[in-house]
Amino acid sequence: MVAAAQAMPHCPQQVSSTLATGNWHKVVLSLILLWAIEAAVVNPLALEGCDDHCGNVSIPYPFGTKEGCYLNETFRITCNTTYNPPLAFLGTSNINVTHIWLSGELRIYSYVAEDCYNQSGGRTSYKDPWITLAKFPISDTRNKFTAIGCDTSAVIKGSKGTTYTTGCISLCDRIEDVIEGSCSGIGCCQTNIPKRVKALNMSLDSYYNNHQNVWDFNPCNYAFVAEVGTYNFSIRDLRDFRNRTMMTPVVLNWAIGDQNCSEAKKDLKSYACTSKDNRTVCHDSENGPGYWCSCSKGFEGNPYLPDGCQDIDECQNATLSLCDQKCTNYNGSYECSCEPGYEGDGKSDGTGCKPKHSTLLVKVALGVTISLLVLLLGISWVHLGLRKRKFIKLKEKCFEQNGGIQLQQQLSRHNGSVETTQIFTAEELKKATNNYHENRILGQGGQGTVYKGILPDNRVVAIKKSKILDQSQVEQFINEVSVLSQVNHRNVVKLLGCCLETQVPLLVYEFVTNGNLFEHIHNTSHASMLPWPLRLQIAVETAGALSYLHFATSIPIIHRDIKSTNILLDDKYTAKVSDFGASRLVPLDQSQLTTLVQGTLGYLDPEYFHSSQLTEKSDVYSFGVLLAELLTGKKALSFDRPDKERNLAIYFVSSMNENRLFEILDQQVLKEGNVEQLKEIAMLTKRCLKLKGEERPTMKEVAMELEGLKAMEKHPWMKRNLGSEETENLPGKSYDDCFGGVNSDSVCYDSIRNQVIISGLDDGR
Ligand SMILES: *[C@@H]1O[C@H](CO)[C@@H](O)[C@H](O)[C@H]1NC(C)=O
Ligand SMILES: *[C@@H]1O[C@H](CO)[C@@H](O)[C@H](O)[C@H]1NC(C)=O
Ligand SMILES: *[C@@H]1O[C@H](CO)[C@@H](O)[C@H](O)[C@H]1NC(C)=O
Ligand SMILES: *[C@@H]1O[C@H](CO)[C@@H](O)[C@H](O)[C@H]1NC(C)=O
Repeated sequence: MVAAAQAMPHCPQQVSSTLATGNWHKVVLSLILLWAIEAAVVNPLALEGCDDHCGNVSIPYPFGTKEGCYLNETFRITCNTTYNPPLAFLGTSNINVTHIWLSGELRIYSYVAEDCYNQSGGRTSYKDPWITLAKFPISDTRNKFTAIGCDTSAVIKGSKGTTYTTGCISLCDRIEDVIEGSCSGIGCCQTNIPKRVKALNMSLDSYYNNHQNVWDFNPCNYAFVAEVGTYNFSIRDLRDFRNRTMMTPVVLNWAIGDQNCSEAKKDLKSYACTSKDNRTVCHDSENGPGYWCSCSKGFEGNPYLPDGCQDIDECQNATLSLCDQKCTNYNGSYECSCEPGYEGDGKSDGTGCKPKHSTLLVKVALGVTISLLVLLLGISWVHLGLRKRKFIKLKEKCFEQNGGIQLQQQLSRHNGSVETTQIFTAEELKKATNNYHENRILGQGGQGTVYKGILPDNRVVAIKKSKILDQSQVEQFINEVSVLSQVNHRNVVKLLGCCLETQVPLLVYEFVTNGNLFEHIHNTSHASMLPWPLRLQIAVETAGALSYLHFATSIPIIHRDIKSTNILLDDKYTAKVSDFGASRLVPLDQSQLTTLVQGTLGYLDPEYFHSSQLTEKSDVYSFGVLLAELLTGKKALSFDRPDKERNLAIYFVSSMNENRLFEILDQQVLKEGNVEQLKEIAMLTKRCLKLKGEERPTMKEVAMELEGLKAMEKHPWMKRNLGSEETENLPGKSYDDCFGGVNSDSVCYDSIRNQVIISGLDDGR
């Protein structure tokens, strides 16, 4: 009998006593009882009487397939048994659910976008799939947007309450340039999905000439959202991705309700973490409103069911073997102990169980321990001192690493010329930014974060914290700072100083109060739109600053990242070119293409894609885009234009060529400007936007020409009233129209809309 009991390690107490008393029929009975207990102990997943799976997929509560089996309509799963095995669908949609995690995640499948061409550049197929979800956002951490192709511009446009657009560009001339397995902008590019996205549309386009250069090895563009880790880029996908897969796994986040944990706990009737006896932990959803539950430490199961969270019997888990000798399981915990004659904490990872020592031995041990302790104390004292010294050394090392000594020398050489650049200590700047507090963040970009800082002398400054800097670029950075410190131009943001003690350098700039040009042209929050004379003034000032940088400094300085967000305005609307030279700190090799392009696409010199170099003429091109932006009030890159031309430069030049300048000008500009002057400026803009750098004017010529044109404004007799010739743009078909809008779930192709995209390049009205 004893043998039987030993053979059943899972034996609960009362059963073993039955066994011990003995008759064989009782043994059988006990075995049945035991089986019954075991069966009951299996953690339930679904409510009683409800199916806990559909085909291969387990369906844990709050999800369920039948009425009364799900928490509310949001968690309804339709199990379609006409398939074998049956398939689970989200609600009444066509979205196939293949896995549900209790940790607030589930997996669905979505379509792949496709855009194919024939040898002569004619489009042969086009698919731009949608995902529209009523309740569950797409996980921002577990998915990525990927595009494949060698002449590819891929865009996701979506809704997260407000609309957003993101995407990436992948280019390559030759298949030899493509790196197997590397998705970094050559043949393949990737970007993240923002938080809280419940609806998105993927679309594709050719960047150059409909794949005519690359057709032999890459006739199609593809794009998809997919769970991280499920796709590895392969060169052969450039030729035939289609044959591999047309659907990809996507992970969604799910959560209960719209409240966070502390709000939800106030109403216990509706609180969903229902498992009894405080066995649950509530988590706020990190991707949208709502919360999700888990079992507390020491428990496992479904926290949404009253009996869901069951104790984990740590003692029975042979793989853990937590205790040395005796193990006692408790609800939610366990305890180790030692047999008589042994001592210690009994834990396998603790002191374990050792035979007891005599008192003498104990005393000796105590003595040894105390002296050890004293020794330890001494050591840690010394250690602490060493660490402090090490920290100071580290600061010095960073200072050296960041080129501080070189810089000090360079700066002292220029001492007395212009305002000298100050070197700040890390401590000063930490204080000035309230320890880099979140509410001091002015902006965040590809190159770093900008904080508002207040110096001890009450000067307000902007402090830029660069991203990790490559060692090899330090010299360039030093050069940059020392050159910048000598630039003293009314229309260039002034560099006040820097700090080199931290691992990445910190730059300190003058604080410009009135936002940036982009906000003033495009953002409705600045109530009054910029009047034309001010726009022209800003253009003249910016051109002047760039011309000065290109021609008047000891070393020509190329800005490389001219765009409206980099033109700051003070309270008198004086333009201040900023983010100055910072793009030089960013390595401009191919692998950085995607990240770079995300920020400045639309302003980027098209020659860059051939030469991978940005020159003075690239600044001229970017400035041309800026002029077009000022003239038309349209964004450099936009996906909302009714005529579907996403690139302002191309749109501007083609409209000029078709003699439609006055149709695309901003209404306000038309009203306030003078026709001849606008025409001339448009012509100048067009010259700046020439595809070949050498055909563009220099910044000096641009600045002088603009000055001259500005003077023209002062002769009001030239002004003619054009009336409002511009026709109202037809609003683009709203994104939410696809399949009953964002309030119902769907993944779909919208073939009718595709037609609009394909044919609607120029006749959007
Ligand atoms: C799902 O079921 C099918 C058919 O019964 C089987 O081939 C497949 O391996 C199952 N998948 C999983 C993940 O269990
Ligand atoms: C199950 O799927 C089939 C085939 O797609 C469809 O015709 C049918 O309406 C579905 N049944 C349910 C209950 O949704
Ligand atoms: C390519 O496609 C275009 C447009 O669909 C068509 O006009 C042209 O004939 C096609 N060319 C070839 C070689 O198939
Ligand atoms: C992708 O590559 C990684 C590492 O090379 C590998 O562990 C993983 O299994 C691969 N994934 C797929 C889907 O092939």
